Amino acid sequence: MSDKKQVFDLCFLGGTAVTPGGPVQADIGVQDGKITYIGRIDPTQAHQSVECAGLHIFPGVIDSQVHFREPGLTHKEDLAHGMRGAIAGGVTSIFEMPNTDPLTLTKETLNEKLDIASKSAYCNYAFYIGGSAVNIDSLSMLETLPGCCGVKVFMGASTGDLLTDKDHTLRKIFKSGRRRVAVHAEDQDRLKARYQLFKGTDDVKMHPTIRDEEAALKATQRIIKIAKETQRPAHILHITTDAELDVIARHKNLITAEATPQHLTLFAPECYEILGTKAQMNPPIREKTHQAALWRAVNAGIIDTIGSDHAPHTLEEKAKPFPDSPSGMPGVQTLVPVMLHHVNKRRLTMMRALDLMCHAPARVFGLVSKGRLAEGYDADLTIVDMQAKAEVSNTWIESKSGWTPFHGMKVTAWPKMTVINGQISMRDGEILPPRAGKMAAFLP
Ligand code: DOR
Repeated sequence: MSDKKQVFDLCFLGGTAVTPGGPVQADIGVQDGKITYIGRIDPTQAHQSVECAGLHIFPGVIDSQVHFREPGLTHKEDLAHGMRGAIAGGVTSIFEMPNTDPLTLTKETLNEKLDIASKSAYCNYAFYIGGSAVNIDSLSMLETLPGCCGVKVFMGASTGDLLTDKDHTLRKIFKSGRRRVAVHAEDQDRLKARYQLFKGTDDVKMHPTIRDEEAALKATQRIIKIAKETQRPAHILHITTDAELDVIARHKNLITAEATPQHLTLFAPECYEILGTKAQMNPPIREKTHQAALWRAVNAGIIDTIGSDHAPHTLEEKAKPFPDSPSGMPGVQTLVPVMLHHVNKRRLTMMRALDLMCHAPARVFGLVSKGRLAEGYDADLTIVDMQAKAEVSNTWIESKSGWTPFHGMKVTAWPKMTVINGQISMRDGEILPPRAGKMAAFLP
């Protein structure tokens, strides 16, 4: 029982707390935005108490890969809509990508995003700095600026003009600082040759053939070689192939890796037959054999984090004929229900999901005071009903783009409450004031 003298602003009573030691029946006390007690609480000690019987309380889920498009591409998304989607779906912190317009390559462009985010602030936030030939000399300074979660490198062209495809430039980037570098690993020379080879193809089912396994594997092998040479760790984003996982498994001392809910849930050719160009993303969604390898890697600890790669485009843009249709799909709002549905389907354990979505993003990026149910940590909570049955629908989506590739998917597990720094920011689908998000802090 909590110390009789202890007072709480808020307490969550009777839920199942998903702690590092496992799920336990425990109340959670919050004071000044921090978790100050986990155990039995006398509700008279709290100014407000929330009944959580039948609910699971996770530490706030961290989505370490989103594209919120602001500034520059705000017809697709902006920070406010992206963050609303995050809290509607149970995500409490987001790390946002640098392929906006202008690209995030300088202190000024980073600060512009931080300024907009501080006004939107539905959830906690940090931003990647793009790693490019033009900013190598300042990268070691840029990656340590407040609000920066690290450096992101695109080895293969995707949305926007951020491309760093030459080994000598990549090597310089890896030598220019010390934090883990996040990498989009597709080999640009291979992609160029493949697009040339398949010129005239307008069938989206060819997307994984054009951007093939070899393009992904080659880039992953190159970046692992550079990481080894420079002894700098890398985080390889949205892994898609069996062969890459074999290589990564042999280099876990330096390499962490991410999988997305899309690659773990949708598969080729079915996804292209059903969704058309809406299923087009980079690297592509591939056949079931690759998906099975991803699940094995998720459960073996070769995949470290789940990121949504929330990359919205408007339906009009997506309706362009392939290959002019842009790659990417929304995902921040569906990450929690889709992954916890997989827990209910026994594709991974609840403890594995906890590590992938909460503990590991904090560990991999050096995020301070988040991602764990423990006294002293920030009171970011993702409260879910693991038994709730629901259907994912476009009408639920907060993103400006207004759609989800999971429209019509029936899931068991649904976010009931999102708590940001001790404020209930979403309850039963309703987004509640005040906006409580803050800039995330990282280890020095
Ligand atoms: O499909 C994708 N879309 N992959 C990426 O890496 C970028 C993203 C985007 O920004 O649209």
